[in-house]
Amino acid sequence: MSILSKHGVIERNATLLLVLSFLVVSIGGLVEIVPLFYLQNTIEKVKGMRPYTPLELAGRDIYIREGCYLCHSQMIRPLRDEVERYGHYSLAAESMYDHPFQWGSKRTGPDLARVGGRYSDEWHVDHLIYPQAVVPESIMPPYEFLMRAPLDAQMASDVVATHRIVGVPYSDEMLEMAKSDTFTQLDPYADDYDGLQSRYANANIRNFDGQEANTEMDALVAYLQVLGTMVDFSTFEPDASR
Ligand code: HEC
Repeated sequence: MSILSKHGVIERNATLLLVLSFLVVSIGGLVEIVPLFYLQNTIEKVKGMRPYTPLELAGRDIYIREGCYLCHSQMIRPLRDEVERYGHYSLAAESMYDHPFQWGSKRTGPDLARVGGRYSDEWHVDHLIYPQAVVPESIMPPYEFLMRAPLDAQMASDVVATHRIVGVPYSDEMLEMAKSDTFTQLDPYADDYDGLQSRYANANIRNFDGQEANTEMDALVAYLQVLGTMVDFSTFEPDASR
């Protein structure tokens, strides 16, 4: 009763109420913010992450240009139903080279964070040309024109340069080779096959769209096929000490 009667003083004095409210709220804020200053890193280190190849990065640019993110997210939440459907939950490190990240907030279609390697290239090409040909009930629009849109290696090289500016660790060599690497990745018989592999570990090197011409379809499928495949989860262990 005596404490309650003292509380009346605060209720009648607006300035005192403001000052004390501010104090109480700051405690909550400090408890949340201060520990962050003692973390070395909020991104756990994982093996296998590498910057996208110029071809994959060009595909990513096409993905953004076509607004695929409006219907597809790229982030698997650590919830049982998501992990059972899509695979291992997404790690922060997996989007560390994504500018801007493609986590998304809308799933009209399924999450694509781990779609890489799940389907064949042919499936992706058929699906993108006419989604209803492989999934009759699909409401995804067709992207047939990508089969006819010539791949612009200068554009690929430019996006590499832009990503370097915002901090993706592309070396001078990677930047210099970006234009030719774009086409090298589409040709398993290319002279510089080994060079590309040494710059980008485990890059998929093949003709993605099945036709001779190098098209935007090649780039988009190359991008889809690498999504979520860089980290080897058979060797990954979550670090609980962070
Ligand atoms: C209007 C919404 C919409 C847009 C825009 C859209 N999609 Fe889809 N997408 C869907 C739906 C719905 C499905 C599920 C049915 C199907 O497989 O077609 C799907 C399925 C997919 C799948 C198969 C995923 C899986 O795990 O089965 C891929 C890959 C895909 N979309 C890629 C793309 C790409 C790349 C783009 C942009 C070029 C795109 N989508 C644009 C709605 C969309």
